Amino acid sequence: MFIHVTTLTDYLAEHHTTPAVKSVIATITHACEEISELLKRGALADILGEVGNQNVQGEEQKKLDVIANDLLLNALTTNKYCAGVASEELDNSTPANPNGEVLVLFDPLDGSSNIDINMAVGTIFSILPYKNQGVTATDNDFLQKGTEQLASGYVLYGTSTILTLTTGEGVVMFTYDPNLHQFILIQEDVKISPDTKEYAINASNYRYWLPPMQRYIDECNAGETGVRGKDFNMRWIAAMVGDVHRILIRGGIFTYPFDTKFANKAGKLRLMYEANPMSFIIEQAGGESTDAVNRILDIEPTNIHQRVPVVLGAKNEVEYVKKLHEEMQ
Ligand code: AHG
Ligand code: MN
Ligand code: MN
Repeated sequence: MFIHVTTLTDYLAEHHTTPAVKSVIATITHACEEISELLKRGALADILGEVGNQNVQGEEQKKLDVIANDLLLNALTTNKYCAGVASEELDNSTPANPNGEVLVLFDPLDGSSNIDINMAVGTIFSILPYKNQGVTATDNDFLQKGTEQLASGYVLYGTSTILTLTTGEGVVMFTYDPNLHQFILIQEDVKISPDTKEYAINASNYRYWLPPMQRYIDECNAGETGVRGKDFNMRWIAAMVGDVHRILIRGGIFTYPFDTKFANKAGKLRLMYEANPMSFIIEQAGGESTDAVNRILDIEPTNIHQRVPVVLGAKNEVEYVKKLHEEMQ
C-alpha cells in the first residue's frame, strides 16, 4: 500500500515563505541531520567531552558544541540568501553574502550538559530579515525584536530526531526518517492547553529567586490543600528544547527565572537564540512567553548574547506568574 507522506520540502513548497527562508531552513535542517548522525554514533564518532576552551558566555565548550557550530556556520555562510550568522559559540557575528536577505542566529547545541550522559539535546534557530542589503552585516544588524522573526525552530535529538518549526502560520512538527534522509510531517497546528498541572524549573536555585517566583513554586508544591487547589507535577530536562517540546506535546509551564546567583546576569537563557525563537513557537501554538513582566518578543535587544528571564507555556499559568510579579513588586 502506498502511504503519502509530506516531507519538509513539500511543506515549505506549499507555504507562503520567501525562497530565502525556505532555502535557509533547508540548509539548517541538513546540518542538523549531520549532527543527528554524529550523536547517534556518540563516543564512536569522538564527539564527547570538552575541548578545553570557554565560550563568550564563560562556559566550558564541549566538543559537540564546536562541531555543531562549525557544521551550521559552514553550511549557512555558503547559502547565497544568508547575509550573516550569529551563534552562542561565537563572540561576534559572522558576515556572509552582503546581498543576502536573511540573518540566522542559532544555539548549535542546547543542553550541552546532557551530551556526555546520553540524554536529549537540541539545536535552536531564529531567522530575521536582513535590512542593510549591499553592505556587510555587523552585530547591530542582528539586534531586532523577536516580533521581526520570519521563522524559528528547533531540532530535538531525542529517542527520535524531531524538527518543530514556525513560519508564522502555526506550529508544525516533523520526524527525521534516517532511511529516507528526510524530515516527515507528523503534526500540524500544534496547540498548547491554556491550563496545566506541570511545571519545569531548576529548583536548586530557589534561594536566588525573587519572592514572587518563590511564592509561585511554594503554591504549586502546596498542592490540593493550598491556594491553587490542585496537585502539580515537576519535570526538568536541563535542555530547553526538551522542556519546550514536552510543553508542546502535553502542556505545562517552563521557567528559567531571574535569579541573583551571578551578578550582572539577568537570567541564564539568551534572548536572541534561545528565548526569542522558542517564544515565537510558543505564541504560535497559543501559549504565552514573558520575562515575568514583559512579552519576550517585544524586548528591544542591545547585545546578541544578552540574557533574559523566561516564563513560557500554558497561557493561564503564565498569566498567573505575571500576576504574582505585579502584585508583589
Ligand atoms: P546551553 O547548553 O546551550 O548552554 O543551554 C542550556 C540551558 C537550557 O537549555 C537549560 O534549560 C538550562 O541551560 C539548564 O540549566 P541548569 O544546568 O541550570 O539546569
Ligand atoms: Mn542553550
Ligand atoms: Mn548551546
